[in-house]
Amino acid sequence: MTDRAVSPIAEIYPLMGQAELAELADSIHRNGLREPIVTRQDGTVLDGRNRLRACEIARVTPRFVEFAGTDREALEFVVDTNSHRRHLSESARALVAARLATFTHGGRRDGNAAALLTQRDAAERLGISERSVRDGKVVIDHAPEELVDDVQRGLIAVRAAAELIRAAGKDKVLVAEYHRLRRASGSTEWYTPPHVLNLVTELFGEIDLDPASNEGEPWVMARAHFTRADDGLSRGWNGRVFLNPPWDSQGSPGQWVAKLVDEYTAGRVTEAICLLPARVNTAWMDRLAPYARCFVRGRLRFGDATGDAPFPVVLVYLGARIQEFVDVFGGLGSCYRQILPSPATV
Ligand SMILES: C[S@@+](CC[C@H](N)C(=O)[O-])C[C@H]1O[C@@H](n2cnc3c(N)ncnc32)[C@H](O)[C@@H]1O
Repeated sequence: MTDRAVSPIAEIYPLMGQAELAELADSIHRNGLREPIVTRQDGTVLDGRNRLRACEIARVTPRFVEFAGTDREALEFVVDTNSHRRHLSESARALVAARLATFTHGGRRDGNAAALLTQRDAAERLGISERSVRDGKVVIDHAPEELVDDVQRGLIAVRAAAELIRAAGKDKVLVAEYHRLRRASGSTEWYTPPHVLNLVTELFGEIDLDPASNEGEPWVMARAHFTRADDGLSRGWNGRVFLNPPWDSQGSPGQWVAKLVDEYTAGRVTEAICLLPARVNTAWMDRLAPYARCFVRGRLRFGDATGDAPFPVVLVYLGARIQEFVDVFGGLGSCYRQILPSPATV
């Protein structure tokens, strides 16, 4: 990747976060690179920056194919392939559309020259309103990087961010105030909300182990805790486990899920509940397929945040008392269990 230049067209879509990238690398390691990296005639990467980074991590030699079309065709190709592949919020799509509508001949971005695609074209291609594209442009042109990032991640709507920038005008005080509030309300640890922990205790009686525990006074009442300093992943797990693994900025929950399933299958963990972001298309969610789960209705407010989480949450149950799990957690959301293949056969 380091010696491959990237086409500016590829940059209209954001790079994956660390957790997603780790999953992609894991998948490429197991299954090989399914889609080759697409380059332009000048050798720059048009599509596949993430796959290329993931190949490096997985130590897999990448394959390349060349895209021979015009600049406009290259733009359309990138939007078409990514719209199938990436599930972006409307606000994140507004940022993509705003970047798309600034490309001129030569595949460069230039706010002053005639664009290859108008804001209306970009709005249509991304399935959003022209107003959202205009909001996206305000954010891209004037917002500090952190605010662009928050819109990208769905923490603030593109309209709200654009209004903030417009209201702030040249005075950056409002934007600074936003960052102060954001830091105060955002969560870095995602502590399990107390009402969820109460239900876990109701089902288990007592939690034997929290293998991913915070430093200092433990947030979860359990008989034993492993913190980062203990490295919960390298320890033996036993009994009734409640797991809310580190993820997001701290990486993928994949290895925590794998460890939980291994310890449960080996019989050392007798029962477990695992709280996870509800990302159903991931390899780690696949490993949990045989186990019952409750998709939490609405958005959870985590223990260290003053705002609702910007992602949905699922609680997965590993154990034999499925009806009791449903009775206790059914009030939180909808409970599901796999029908095929039958859990007994996997
Ligand atoms: C999502 S928080 C959950 C905290 C708490 N167990 C709860 O349920 O609210 C994940 C925690 O795992 C801790 N952590 C990170 N790496 C760890 C490791 N290798 N072993 C144990 N804990 C770790 C983090 O410091 C963080 O406090």
